[in-house]
Formats: sequence, structure tokens, C-alpha cells
Amino acid sequence: MSLRARTAILISGRGSNMAALLAAAADPAYPAEIVLVLANRADAAGLARAAEAGIPTAVVESRPFGKDRAAFEAAMSAELARHGVTLIALAGFMRVLTEGFTGAWEGRMLNIHPSLLPAFPGLDTHARALAAGVRLHGCSVHLVTPGVDEGPILAQAAVPVLAGDDEATLAARVLAEEHRLYPAALAWMAAGQVSLRDGRAVVAAAPAPTATALRNPGC
Ligand code: GAR
Repeated sequence: MSLRARTAILISGRGSNMAALLAAAADPAYPAEIVLVLANRADAAGLARAAEAGIPTAVVESRPFGKDRAAFEAAMSAELARHGVTLIALAGFMRVLTEGFTGAWEGRMLNIHPSLLPAFPGLDTHARALAAGVRLHGCSVHLVTPGVDEGPILAQAAVPVLAGDDEATLAARVLAEEHRLYPAALAWMAAGQVSLRDGRAVVAAAPAPTATALRNPGC
């Protein structure tokens, strides 16, 4: 019997973070095994990438459920149970989850968000970072709680906002960091190295950061 955490990746779109997680989990020593990629849209491009990698896929279309989020989640839960999933990684999954679902998966569901939370929760994070004139931007991996993009933060990566950046160039710089950060964070989670203290996430045995500060402008 495999001791790796049976993990589902939930996607809505292109699935580049999913691909980064699949690549990491292709190593048998990686503590999470990806047993399912589940999409809420049949046209999610990531589904084909997952299938190419030989990973079981499922589609639970959210649209037909309309406002009945609980019924949509019940259909998802059936798929998750069918595959014996014990850990969930949201990777560009663009549906807000109910308190019932987040409660059922409390401490067992991660999300990646393209900003340095708690700055810029929600949508259009790169455009909002540019509009706000921040000099540092980035991404966060956090545990999922009922409040959107509010759960305890496990890990963050910061990038400089450069003169001349537009939404696309800034998004690409952040995305490259997402692809490094998420596999590391999922590994800590799957290996049981994450605990909660006073509502904050503590990661045991995580490596110290490689730089003490990222300054922009550099000085
Ligand atoms: C990623 O940038 C991810 O952080 C973001 O959607 C993108 C999905 O790209 N997620 C959110 O905004 C969730 N609030 P991907 O499908 O290529 O991984």
C-alpha cells in the first residue's frame, strides 16, 4: 500500500500549476501521489495535459448546478471519494466553495493565489498590483478556509515589479514562482510537516530563505 498522500488537483483552466505538481509527483519519493485531476469545466485545457501524463481525470460541470453550490460540491465529493482522495490542491480552480465543503476538508486543502496575501485577494491581482504601484508582488500558498483567499499562509514568493511591466509580464514573472512554490508547499503538507498554531501555519523543517531581503529598487 502506498504511503503517499492521495491528492486531487482541482482546476478550471490551463493547468500550468497542475503540470508543475504532476512533474514533482512523478518522482516516487515525492510525498503526494496525484490520483485525480478534477475540473469544473469540460473545456479546461489542463485536462488533456493530465490525461497525457496518465493521470485519471474527471469533470463535474459547475454551470448546470447554477446557484446550488452544495449540490455541485456533493457531485465533486462523490468523485473525490471514488478515488480515495485525502488531500486537495486547488490550482486555478475558480469556484467559491461553501463552508460545508471547506469545513469537511479543513486542514487538508491548499490553494495557490497570485498575490502576496493578504494583499489583493480575489481576481485581477496583477492589474491591481500595478494600479497600486507596489514594488514587490508575488504568490501565496495557503490552507483553504471559508473566507476567500483568507486561510493560514504556508509559503510565499516575492518578485519585483519592474518599470515597463504590464499585466502579462508581471503575471509571467509571478507564475514562474508559483510553479516552484506550490510543489514545495504540497510536499510539506503531504509529509505532515504543517501544523497550526494560533490560527497560523507552521512548517516544520522548511529550509531558510535563500536571501534575507528582496529590495526594489535595489539598494
Ligand atoms: C494561477 O496564477 C493561480 O495562482 C490563479 O489562477 C492561475 C491559474 O493558472 N488562481 C487564482 O487566481 C485563484 N484565486 P494555471 O491554470 O495555469 O495554474
